[in-house]
Amino acid sequence: MWIAGFLVVTLSSTLTLAQFPRVCVTAEGLRSGQCCPSLTGLAGDECGSSIGRGQCVSIAADTRRHGPQYPYAGRDDRESEEEYHADEHSREAGICETLDQAKRTVHPDLVICTRRYQEVFGPDGNTPQFENVTIYNYFVWSHYYSVSKTYLGPGQTSFGGVDFSHEGPGFVTWHRFHLLQLERDIQDMLRDPTFALPYWNFAIGGSECDICTDDLLGARSAFDRNSISSNSVFSQWRVICERVDDYDTLGTICNSTETSPIRRNPAGNVARPMVQKLPEPKDVLDCLELNTFDTPPYYSTSSESFRNTIEGYSAPHGTYDPVIRSLHNLAHLFLNGTGGQTHLSPNDPIFVLLHTFTDAVFDEWLRRHQPGQIVYPEENAPIGHNRRFNMVPFWPPVTNAEMFVSAPESLGYSYEVQWPNRPFTLSEIITIAIVSAVLLVVVVGAVVACAMRDRSYRTADALEPLLGETYRRYSEDDRRLAKSQSVV
Ligand SMILES: *[C@@H]1O[C@H](CO)[C@@H](O)[C@H](O)[C@H]1NC(C)=O
Ligand SMILES: *[C@@H]1O[C@H](CO)[C@@H](O)[C@H](O)[C@H]1NC(C)=O
Ligand SMILES: *[C@@H]1O[C@H](CO)[C@@H](O)[C@H](O)[C@H]1NC(C)=O
Repeated sequence: MWIAGFLVVTLSSTLTLAQFPRVCVTAEGLRSGQCCPSLTGLAGDECGSSIGRGQCVSIAADTRRHGPQYPYAGRDDRESEEEYHADEHSREAGICETLDQAKRTVHPDLVICTRRYQEVFGPDGNTPQFENVTIYNYFVWSHYYSVSKTYLGPGQTSFGGVDFSHEGPGFVTWHRFHLLQLERDIQDMLRDPTFALPYWNFAIGGSECDICTDDLLGARSAFDRNSISSNSVFSQWRVICERVDDYDTLGTICNSTETSPIRRNPAGNVARPMVQKLPEPKDVLDCLELNTFDTPPYYSTSSESFRNTIEGYSAPHGTYDPVIRSLHNLAHLFLNGTGGQTHLSPNDPIFVLLHTFTDAVFDEWLRRHQPGQIVYPEENAPIGHNRRFNMVPFWPPVTNAEMFVSAPESLGYSYEVQWPNRPFTLSEIITIAIVSAVLLVVVVGAVVACAMRDRSYRTADALEPLLGETYRRYSEDDRRLAKSQSVV
């Protein structure tokens, strides 16, 4: 379980503000960059050190250069995510009811920041601008925050060309931790450490959303093609982080205010036929065969990259093509609504199941290729995506490298997936046909030989030795033999 930050240490000057442990959100804590509350209430017992619960530890901040994809320096609060460290002390209802409970339960530990650093102390300079948020909305908010545009100042167009969780090698590691955090928050909420998020195998082809039923993620409303049926609890959900234009013009950050219902119209984007069909089972097989984790420029333009392919900017066999949307991206766009817009997508709970499946493919790729950390770029990836960068905005800080590991061996979970079988290629079919024909000849020959022997045992010649039979094969008057030879 993540404990509400029992320790925060500043390593350098700027503050990084994202979600924060509630206990640390004081003007004093923010100014000093320190928050070391006593677990026992005793003075000098920072982080519960007297009972061995925690201690103040510095964290290593990786300074390897990032690639040219992000052209600004010192402009974005998220650039220096690694400057705080909190110590980690230790670590059935149906899925719909559980997600709904998470949508309504205030996060026990974390609060969200609603202003950029310049305005974080509020109009009076002494009121930290943080809000409570529910467990599920925190999941939505952290995704929004990682993809939000860089505010470049009043009157200037915000920079949205790169984000901290997509279009780079960190795509798979970031979303893996994102899911793990939600899963752990729900485990704590339910007091059930065995709770696990399910997945949706979206690679089923066709134009049906098979989990869009009222007992699962919600059927289509009979009255509005873009809405969820009122028989589903998800028709009651309201989204957060919708007012992106406000955040851009006002220079603020999404807050916990809920606004419109979820929009969803599976296969409904008639203007873009390519996204009216789900990925095919074969697409998953193709991407699993790619040998290289990621390729320069480690971006949404990478070709022959497993990461860019499962993310969905390349064709399933790896070739980059700017018009193609495949796999993960295609599953999102197929939803044609809230789930298809990056800054909003986790508001539709299908996001959770879509991403657990994406994570399952990532884990299967790791299992098949056994690549080792070395294949994950250490530098020159877009900002936020270098191997040892702390993923924005997770708390406590966690690097991409820490999630680039086999889940069953290092993270304690696994997926049960029946990976589809690959259909045979033409040369494989020809080889199989030849081998089968040869086998057939051998088997039929053996059967006929046995049958002959069998029959011969029932005759007066029953005790005739094999050698005699062999001899007889060539006798001209043995019709059975002649017949059996022609059969073969
Ligand atoms: C935030 O949530 C905590 C814990 O549930 C509660 O004690 C606190 O009063 C809440 N603060 C606000 C402003 O609602
Ligand atoms: C929350 O965000 C909405 C939409 O941008 C805005 O109208 C509202 O003032 C914000 N609330 C706070 C407390 O910042
Ligand atoms: C949904 O499809 C409509 C019709 O093609 C399109 O205009 C709209 O932009 C799509 N919305 C999203 C969020 O994909």
